[in-house]
Amino acid sequence: MTTLVIGANGQIGKQFCQRAKKAGEPIKAMVRREEQAGWFAERGIDTVVADLEGDFSHAFEGCEQVVFSAGSGPDTGPDKTLMIDLYGAIRAADIAAEKGLKRFIMVSAMRAEDPMAAPEKLRPYMAAKFAADAHLRLSGLPYVILKPGRLSDDAATERFAESVDEAGNNQMSRGNVASALLYVVQYAALADTEFTLLDGTRSAAEVMA
Ligand SMILES: NC(=O)c1ccc[n+]([C@@H]2O[C@H](COP(=O)([O-])OP(=O)(O)OC[C@H]3O[C@@H](n4cnc5c(N)ncnc54)[C@H](OP(=O)(O)O)[C@@H]3O)[C@@H](O)[C@H]2O)c1
Repeated sequence: MTTLVIGANGQIGKQFCQRAKKAGEPIKAMVRREEQAGWFAERGIDTVVADLEGDFSHAFEGCEQVVFSAGSGPDTGPDKTLMIDLYGAIRAADIAAEKGLKRFIMVSAMRAEDPMAAPEKLRPYMAAKFAADAHLRLSGLPYVILKPGRLSDDAATERFAESVDEAGNNQMSRGNVASALLYVVQYAALADTEFTLLDGTRSAAEVMA
């Protein structure tokens, strides 16, 4: 089952693509600019150039599921939060549903279900994640929503927790998100479910099976 990776050139996206390639999982990496394709070509990973703010429906060709880990990032304004984190994710789910894809795996954020609980500055982003997740749940597509805590660049431990109480903090390394994504991609029967994910002490199977 070929996976379209939206946000492939991002920090989680690249780590996921490397893991998927190593595991022999077929993927297609969606990048925004032609010059980003070289990094993937060097690793034998197929790419498609497409932008979430344009027409990106061609990117889905030959793919059966989607990993969505794109995001506008902290250095852009609310316009990009709306157009990428919210509307880009919504359009991706709509195209996937229209094309009859088998599953959509979303990288959301911990506590996206309650944007008002976030610090005021983060609320627009959390509201975007809230609405994109809600849209996906109603899309008719089988889905898995991963809700990582505050992202870090710590080394991946391949060990997880599913609550702040269990983890003792709110941290999740990007490598562990990539590892959790690979677990979900390989677990084809997992659907219509969601997980808060933090760095912890349990295996992906213990937390998500
Ligand atoms: N920061 C946190 O603490 C936190 C917590 C929970 C969840 N998250 C979520 O984690 C996810 C990814 O994190 P990350 O660290 O990997 O982020 P990242 O490194 O900023 O990667 C985001 C990717 O999205 C791509 N992108 C942005 N706009 C796009 C567009 N118009 N069309 C296509 N692609 C576009 C970027 O492309 P370029 O490479 O071309 O810029 C980049 O590759 C995001 O969904 C974020 O919301 C973050």
